Parts: sequence; structure tokens; C-alpha cells
Amino acid sequence: MNPPAIAIDGPAASGKSTVAKLIAKELGYTFINTGAMYRAVTWYTLQQGINPADTEAVKALLPTIPLSFGKDGSVSTVLFEGRVLTSELTEKSTNDNVSAIASIPEVRALLVAKQREYNTKEAVVMEGRDIGTVVFPDTPFKYFVTASEEVRAARRAAEGITDSIAERDKKDSQRACAPLKQAEDAMLVDTSDMTIEQVVAFIVADINKKLA
Ligand code: DC
Repeated sequence: MNPPAIAIDGPAASGKSTVAKLIAKELGYTFINTGAMYRAVTWYTLQQGINPADTEAVKALLPTIPLSFGKDGSVSTVLFEGRVLTSELTEKSTNDNVSAIASIPEVRALLVAKQREYNTKEAVVMEGRDIGTVVFPDTPFKYFVTASEEVRAARRAAEGITDSIAERDKKDSQRACAPLKQAEDAMLVDTSDMTIEQVVAFIVADINKKLA
């Protein structure tokens, strides 16, 4: 049996990344940011001059894509030719095209396999859109972290990021393959009126109760 896998899903800018990272730290588990993996494929596709809407061309790239998925301490990283990708992953062009890339089933199959690999040897807190529904459907630890659209837009603006999150969420929720949705057995955590510390404490308490 694999070590525990904590699934944290939710829309863009719901705070799930910050929360997932802190939960991982508190439990001593590895934090895996799966959005970064979809972003890296998007960035590389654009680098190659390929239109993300050209599904066949994107699929043709996948077998030889020079990306690898590693760790820096207890945090996941994405590497391109051995170099850790950082600012490339939040460039405007990456933001604008990541939903198109993430809607391609072959891209998802490749990345889901890599995501599951992380959990074969170690306990993980994994953050994304389909972790509870597709990546780890059998885990008892599923949390759907959300916040009102106003709160999410304000949080993004405070970070200085201008990204059309409403449009991205719409695309991510409406795609045919592994759409953004709450797993039936996931616990809904609305963070609109909660501090980060409260959210982390609430989820960690639930995990510890289930582990006991
Ligand atoms: O979490 P994020 O905003 O960095 O994710 C970027 C995009 O990647 C998001 O708009 C949809 C896609 N994504 C996905 O489809 N499935 C995941 N597990 C994680 C991200």
C-alpha cells in the first residue's frame, strides 16, 4: 500500500497552494504542485512555436519532451534540461494557454502517471484540479478548497498577478477530460472568511483524526 496522499483541489487563487504547502510542512510530507506540471508543458509548447490549440502537434511533442519532475527538499520542482523552471511558469502567455494544454487527454495521462509516481515512496500533499477525482480517487483525504470569486480576485491582485481566473476556471470546469469538480467524498472548505492558519488547522485536524 502507498503512503498517505492528501488531495487538495479547487479553483484558481482559492489559496489552495499556500494551504497545501503549509499542511505538507506540518505533517512532514512532500508538497506537489501539479499546476506547475501543466504550466511547464504549456511553456515548452509555446517555446517550440506550437499553437496549444493544435492538439496533434502538442501530442507529437510529448514522447520526447525534455521536462523532468523532481524535488527540492520536500517541494516538487519541474526541470527543463536540468534547470528548475520558475518565472516561466507564471508568464502571461503560460497563464493564457494552460487551460488549452490541460484539456488534452494525452497530456493529462502523462502527468497523472508522474504524479502517482511521487506517492509510491512517500506521503504527499498534492494540489490541483483532479487529484481527488482522478489521481487518487481512493484516498480518504480529499479537500475541495474554494473562496468567493471576489475574494479570489482580490487575493490575486494583492499578489500583483493579473490573470483572468474566472475564464480559466470556466474552461477548466467545462472540459471533457478530468474537469475541475469536487469529488463526491471530498470535504468542502470555503476559505472566504477564514485565515490561512485557520484553514490549515482545520484540514490537519481532519487528517489526524482519520489517521488515528
Ligand atoms: O493551479 P494552477 O493555477 O497553477 O494551475 C494551472 C492550470 O493547470 C489550471 O488552470 C488548470 C490546469 N490544471 C489541471 O488541469 N489539473 C491539475 N491537476 C492542475 C492544474
